[in-house]
Amino acid sequence: MTLPARVKLVEVGPRDGLQNEPKILDVATKVALIDRLGRAGLRVIEAASFVSPKWVPQMADSAAVLAALQRRPGVVYPALTPNLQGFEAALAAGAREVAVFGSASEAFSQKNINCSVAESLARFEPVLAAARQAGIRVRGYVSCALGCPYEGAIAPAAVARVAGALFDLGCYEISLGDTIGAGTPEAAKRMLEAVAGRVPLDCLAGHYHDTRGMAVANIYASLQCGVRTFDASVAGLGGCPYAKGASGNVATEDAVYLLDGLGIETGVDLEALIDCAAWISEVLERPPASKVSLAKLGARSPP
Ligand code: HMG
Ligand code: MG
Repeated sequence: MTLPARVKLVEVGPRDGLQNEPKILDVATKVALIDRLGRAGLRVIEAASFVSPKWVPQMADSAAVLAALQRRPGVVYPALTPNLQGFEAALAAGAREVAVFGSASEAFSQKNINCSVAESLARFEPVLAAARQAGIRVRGYVSCALGCPYEGAIAPAAVARVAGALFDLGCYEISLGDTIGAGTPEAAKRMLEAVAGRVPLDCLAGHYHDTRGMAVANIYASLQCGVRTFDASVAGLGGCPYAKGASGNVATEDAVYLLDGLGIETGVDLEALIDCAAWISEVLERPPASKVSLAKLGARSPP
């Protein structure tokens, strides 16, 4: 199949990345990261998460982050909201787009948000209703789309069921999370084929963690299936606090390098992005998880 001319990248480093970094950054540094990402050309930057600070202390200052960031024209800064309490806090902090997050796995749902899949969908309903009233778009996540740390393999039909339920509730886009980076390209294709029976392909996003180095291959397979939106995290930051051993999302630099190589436009300046990855990695006192950044930075300062 022909590949798209353009792909939308959703930068999740300031949320999915930082929520799982052991070093907790201050508001000014988070805002500086978001600003650098905007300057590098990212147009959707997930910036905050209104969850319980007892569960995820890294995101406790989300209201202050949203208040302090300099909004760039044409850039949206979504925030995670697990329930109405989170939505109201996000709205009060100035969020103009939010995301609810469910799971295709019962066990993961319990560990991550302390309720069953059915209960989570019931919690999201008033969030969607309140968002509609406030004129706010809601994205939906489905975790464990390619495997669960507690249940193992997850049937594509289970992913399709939850994705379809989120879409029916009014989510404009469904992001399919390979939370533990267990997927491989053919498994991703089978999963997408099942989900595409419930949700239009142009409303789907791939959210692939790179735990086993398969994320770029899974993006390529998803492109071939017709997916045009991908989540990525600068420098491959992060993981998931409720999926032990999970590493970060595909590094945004690696996704951009792949897409540049395929002649697919992203609007992102790879050099500026690598500078951003180098900077945030230094702040966090860790090397970038991106092979593309490592290659470039190695070439800048040979041993
Ligand atoms: P709970 O304990 O069941 O909630 O947690 P509760 O309603 O019983 O309330 C208990 C306490 O939490 C109360 O406070 C509430 O006020 C407070 P207390 O009276 O004890 O002081 N509370 C809140 N505080 C702040 N913000 C809120 C909120 N709601 C209740 N929104 C809850 C349920 C969902 C809150 C909790 O389980 C939680 O915060 N979980 C978040 C876990 C999380 O953030 N995980 C990472 C994000 S998901 C992810 O990374 C996957 C993704 O990237 C896709 C993929 O890769 O798969 C999206
Ligand atoms: Mg994730």
